[in-house]
Amino acid sequence: MSGPIFAIETSCDDTCAAVVTQEGEILSNVISSQSELHARYGGVVPEVASRHHLELVNVVVEEALAQAGTAIADVEAVAATSRPGLIGALLVGLSTAKALAAASGRPFIAVDHLHGHVCANFLEPEPLDPPFLCLIASGGHTLLAWVEDRRGYTELGSTRDDAAGEALDKAARLMGLGFAGGAVIDRLAREGDPQAFAFPVGMRRSDSLEFSFSGLKTALVYAVREMGPERVEERRADLAASFQRAVVDQLMAKLEQGIERTGAERVAVGGGVAANSELRARLEALCAVRGLALKIPPPALCTDNAAMIASAARFGEPVPYPRFLGFDAFARR
Ligand code: KG4
Ligand code: ZN
Repeated sequence: MSGPIFAIETSCDDTCAAVVTQEGEILSNVISSQSELHARYGGVVPEVASRHHLELVNVVVEEALAQAGTAIADVEAVAATSRPGLIGALLVGLSTAKALAAASGRPFIAVDHLHGHVCANFLEPEPLDPPFLCLIASGGHTLLAWVEDRRGYTELGSTRDDAAGEALDKAARLMGLGFAGGAVIDRLAREGDPQAFAFPVGMRRSDSLEFSFSGLKTALVYAVREMGPERVEERRADLAASFQRAVVDQLMAKLEQGIERTGAERVAVGGGVAANSELRARLEALCAVRGLALKIPPPALCTDNAAMIASAARFGEPVPYPRFLGFDAFARR
């Protein structure tokens, strides 16, 4: 392969398209977020998300090609996220990509969204070479991945219940901070005391590399109920800082156990929660102390985007027309 890859990502509520070269240089990376739209419902409404992907996808595709100065006929292959995610949302991106590939005579490459988060670490500048241990923490998934080569990864452990981002989003809603609360908690936590509330750190004493955030969530439910709305309002920053501390403590504890287990000398992260400033600072401190190489993609490449999907597609299997027409989307991993 030599030409750039064009990719579409629509697994949740962001409509994304990007063009990335074989060397991993981003020529364009367009993201149209629907979060304001879903805010009024307090969460992503799958049917609303698919309808808006349908309205936005052509504009986002054209914008990504225009910014890259490329035509669809000139790309090496067309890629799209095919799993996991909201099924209706995935189908919009997948069908659009298949149609573009068929019309332009380009091959098609199906990409796993979580592999995409891993592959954000292979983008320029300063891509990280495998092997490395990668913590993926997003709104839908939390897992430790051992990345031996660029084509895939081995899962060492994942969450038993909620994902880290899901826990942050639910916490934000409980504290009246609105939807997509991870970033709001991140900002508010800077003004609060992370030790103010002794929220539990899940799985801390377990040897397993699995995660669990449901106990932490329940602890917050009880704390908020006991305090009542006025005190919650007064102490929002302390609650946010303490809750975030408990989430980050667990992510760091499991990452450290994963480093011991694998003997990893390189560490990477991905997923929306990797945009968190507390987590980023703690990762830098840990890797500095242990002398480990660390790759943290910029925040915009941690949250959902299509550049990471194009990056993953570079190491996937291009399938010629018409064989890819039968490709389906899958909600699960
Ligand atoms: O990877 P992503 O964009 O979508 C999924 O694949 O799920 O991750 C979204 C998640 C949400 O739960 C959001 O609250 C969280 O990432 N998030 C953050 C931050 N920015 C986004 N969590 C903590 N701190 C942030 N700065
Ligand atoms: Zn994601």
